[in-house]
Amino acid sequence: MSFKMSDGFPKELLTGHPGLDVQHQTMFQRAVAFLQMVDPADAQVDSDLQFLVRYVDLHFLCEEDVMKRTGFEGFDHHRKLHEQMRNELMDIAESHRNGASFSGVCARIHVFFTEWYRLHISETYRILVQHLRKTGMMQLNGIP
Ligand SMILES: [Fe+2]
Repeated sequence: MSFKMSDGFPKELLTGHPGLDVQHQTMFQRAVAFLQMVDPADAQVDSDLQFLVRYVDLHFLCEEDVMKRTGFEGFDHHRKLHEQMRNELMDIAESHRNGASFSGVCARIHVFFTEWYRLHISETYRILVQHLRKTGMMQLNGIP
């Protein structure tokens, strides 16, 4: 399945879970807005990257909390994937502070969200959503 961020939020990412869906849409919309900026100031780029780092971290913490509380068997594997993604996003933000060009950062953000998309349509993630439905944990302490 092809993935183009400019096509809008991919419907296949909708889980039916209100908290997760709002978080995913917020992350996606902020990333698209970031990629669409034209010649932004460095301070704006840094500030937007910090937002993404914090929001993605908060979202992963919400997912991990629910996985832990419901005894999700795939927790360790899923948490490792989150950890790799957190590190990548922090590295992207740091690279800009260290002088990486905006276009270079955009290329990495695009790859990051392509990977994020792959994770969320993967078997790993579908199993998690099925697990949450089964355990009745379809309401996270959502963040807007
Ligand atoms: Fe997610």
